[in-house]
Amino acid sequence: MAPPMFRELCLLLALPILARGQVGDLPITTSNATALLPTFSLPELPYSYDALEPSISKEIMTLHHSKHHQAYVTNLNAALSTSIDSLTRGDLVGYSSQLSAIRFNGGGHINHALFWQNLSPPSSSDSSPDAAPKLQVALEATWGSLEDFQKDFTTALLGIQGSGWGWLVREKGTGLLRILTLANQEAVVQGDTPILGVDMWEHAYYLQYLNGKAAYVQNIWKVINWTTCEARYVGETEDVFADLRSVIG
Ligand SMILES: *[C@@H]1O[C@H](CO)[C@@H](O)[C@H](O)[C@H]1NC(C)=O
Ligand SMILES: *[C@@H]1O[C@H](CO)[C@@H](O)[C@H](O)[C@H]1NC(C)=O
Repeated sequence: MAPPMFRELCLLLALPILARGQVGDLPITTSNATALLPTFSLPELPYSYDALEPSISKEIMTLHHSKHHQAYVTNLNAALSTSIDSLTRGDLVGYSSQLSAIRFNGGGHINHALFWQNLSPPSSSDSSPDAAPKLQVALEATWGSLEDFQKDFTTALLGIQGSGWGWLVREKGTGLLRILTLANQEAVVQGDTPILGVDMWEHAYYLQYLNGKAAYVQNIWKVINWTTCEARYVGETEDVFADLRSVIG
């Protein structure tokens, strides 16, 4: 049987359990509640750790993916499990103490999973903006030219104070393109389509660029996977994180 959607699971568990310690007519135990939980895992990179050199070093990619992203996944799974465990015991304080960890690590997992797919070895034809013809037309219509968009996006990225992300999104409803920046591991809200995200945490560049943030941003333009951007823009990409996004959003 397919696991229930996470959002449904939370609704299913939270209120009835707190009220009666059961779901419908069935008693619920910690073990069957946690057994229903989805487990998140580290996605494999679609390229090798050294594939983005010289823009992003092998050392950064190795740490960023296998340590940092893995930590978000591990901590997300632990926080989900602890929160459900607390709920089934009627421990509201224990439950609510996990919510910020779910939000932070859930956002970290979503952001990084989207980020890896946004990157491409510079030798691939995917790294040329020509791989995103429809998006390019929309960028030109919105910003005047691709270069003007890149200039504005770069300014937004360099303006982030502390840790955060910059995104090009397609806005829900209007379908308009917009640049936004988000602090820490906030995720793009449900409904808006994240097209291109750039990680501006120090862990994304410091080992190689030190405080040279501007050089990092300049070089990342050489390793963007425009095929991914195009697919997201035209709506061909399923939001695999819809459930998680709705829980943390
Ligand atoms: C949880 O497990 C218990 C004992 O195994 C079982 O009696 C109960 O029906 C299960 N609850 C649900 C909601 O599946
Ligand atoms: C770029 O992204 C597309 C779509 O997500 C993917 O099929 C392709 O393999 C990626 N290219 C590289 C070189 O990783």
